[in-house]
Amino acid sequence: SDTYAVFGNPIVQSKSPVIHRQFCEQTGEDMTYTKQLVAEGEFASAAKAFFTGGGHGLNITAPFKQDAFTYANTLTERAQRAGAVNLLTQQIDGSVTGDTTDGIGMINDMLNLGWELSAKRILVLGAGGAVRGVLEPLLGQNPSELCIANRTASKAEDLARDFHDLGTVSGVSLEDLTGKQFDIVINGTSASLHGALPPLPEHLLGPDAACYDMMYAAEPTIFMRWATEHGATKVADGLGMLVGQAAESFYAWRHIRPEVVPVITQLRRKMS
Ligand code: ATR
Repeated sequence: SDTYAVFGNPIVQSKSPVIHRQFCEQTGEDMTYTKQLVAEGEFASAAKAFFTGGGHGLNITAPFKQDAFTYANTLTERAQRAGAVNLLTQQIDGSVTGDTTDGIGMINDMLNLGWELSAKRILVLGAGGAVRGVLEPLLGQNPSELCIANRTASKAEDLARDFHDLGTVSGVSLEDLTGKQFDIVINGTSASLHGALPPLPEHLLGPDAACYDMMYAAEPTIFMRWATEHGATKVADGLGMLVGQAAESFYAWRHIRPEVVPVITQLRRKMS
């Protein structure tokens, strides 16, 4: 059967093999999907060995999304914008295409949750690689406003400049948020990983606001707890984004769109 893998470091924690196994069970597709630990600095040689050894496609997780971007022979437009690749696919001619499905995975999760994005005031916290990857699909939903706020304001300003041709987007400091209000707030900082939260003003959330953490955990994240305490009526973590990016990868490889909701439900049950 066709072989696929996820490359990362660390990799033990990766849920991708479990997710793709469930997609296969759902759809009757026959494929092998494994996880592979790759040493730092050895991404290109490991990818080359995988593809010359008959591998069909790879998912790429931290810290190799930039290496995968460099490795690809051709890039989709959205991967070029994102500056990162989480999906490599070998074409019939042997060339390898790079794509990114993280952003569309997040948008699809929000839409599955019943969140309306169009004409909403959206705030994204953070200006690193994870945020860069979701800006194009977010702007594609036609929010009334997209604001990027970051501890280091210059990085948010740079991002806003890179995406301004796609819609109304601004980059600000966290301090600049005082007095502003949003309908949807997305946490894309890595602060959650360390149990930290960027300092946020009291009245940041508008009525009936929705808050999304790109991180996920067995327990509500610190950002999700902040959101609930500050009046958000809809709160979600990034587990659905993880399954969503996997679903888009599976679709790119197998041309069948799997159901994400039963997979999210089962992963959630196992985590608790
Ligand atoms: P990733 O690939 O996860 O996006 P990254 O590129 O290192 O990782 O970006 C991390 C983001 O989280 C940055 O926006 C960072 O802010 P700075 O640009 O000012 O460094 C943000 N971040 C990390 N820890 C934070 C904290 N404790 N408070 C606020 N922002 C934080």
